[in-house]
Amino acid sequence: MTGAAGFIGSHTAVELMAAGHDVVGVDNFANSSPGAVERVHRLADGRFTFVELDLRDRTSLNELLRRRPVDAVVHFAARKAVGESVDIPLDYYDTNVNATLGLVSVMLERGVNRLVFSSSCSIYGEAESMPIREDAPARPTNPYARTKWMCEQILADVCQRHPDWQVTSLRYFNPAGAHPSGLLGEDPRGVPNNVLPYIAQVAVGRRAELSIFGDDYPTPDGTGIRDYIHVVDIAEGHRLALEALGEATGHRVINLGTGHGTSVRELLTAFSAACGRELPSRVVARRPGDVAELVADPSLARELLGWKATRDVADMCRDAWNFQRHNPNGYAETDRGGTEQ
Ligand code: UD1
Repeated sequence: MTGAAGFIGSHTAVELMAAGHDVVGVDNFANSSPGAVERVHRLADGRFTFVELDLRDRTSLNELLRRRPVDAVVHFAARKAVGESVDIPLDYYDTNVNATLGLVSVMLERGVNRLVFSSSCSIYGEAESMPIREDAPARPTNPYARTKWMCEQILADVCQRHPDWQVTSLRYFNPAGAHPSGLLGEDPRGVPNNVLPYIAQVAVGRRAELSIFGDDYPTPDGTGIRDYIHVVDIAEGHRLALEALGEATGHRVINLGTGHGTSVRELLTAFSAACGRELPSRVVARRPGDVAELVADPSLARELLGWKATRDVADMCRDAWNFQRHNPNGYAETDRGGTEQ
């Protein structure tokens, strides 16, 4: 598992190990914390091996897979902030595309031909109709989304050339929430880009108020609508995708979403209910590049993987708040050696 210390990686590692899989995780901590690895170890019951490694270091990766052969790879490691990708596109192409090329080359060399790839609904850009099916045209509108689209195309080409390859790209919508144990959650560095971790930091007193990016969208309350999906549902989706790889060769693309849209105001109300006080907000200008609504049609995941999200926005807010209040500064305490449970 690449990006094993990240938000979705750490939760998926725990889910896989709970289902009896052994996981070898790698991460270079570019945007994650050793504290997350320590927590995964705590939840994993001895099945977790972790190696600090930069995927672009093909020699070390090759050596690792020689020492620790694996049946399949789950590839999360990537940068994921849309705005940042506009500022530093080369870093995004290097981390997201170049590292994927390195990973696939090493997999070819080591004879590993099964992969679950972490893709994104941002590939759809401004979709013409909602909810979005996988056959909607790809119209990525920023470098981040283009890196995900390029990686999917690279994987499709590799599958063409190597007909025994089994690859699933999971395009997920807006991951949110945290592990119900309160040990794992989302811990972005600096000011959170994404709305739910931002709200959680308002709730814990680290930020004064939520800036609502526009309330003049053509939606019922004027604020943007997204398909928020609980990170544990996403983790289960990865497990099922991994376990289903053997059912088909070639490259499959599958949405992970709930099919339900929630507005920024509705999310704020749900989080206020979870933390027991009304959280302050202020409407500001729209954020450049944002669209009014993004909601998945998740029926293909149900058909091919037997997967369906079972957790709702209230669950996401409850679990995100549970993590945030027990870890007000994220994993920082664990990095200094303490615990806070
Ligand atoms: C973006 C990307 C998605 C990526 C995800 C995680 C697009 C279209 N989507 O999702 O691919 O996987 O980030 O990095 O590129 N909002 C506020 N105030 C805030 C922050 C956000 O009002 O402080 C609003 C936004 O305008 C939007 C909603 O909250 O309507 C969700 O925003 P965000 O959490 O940043 O996710 P996306 O932009 O949907």
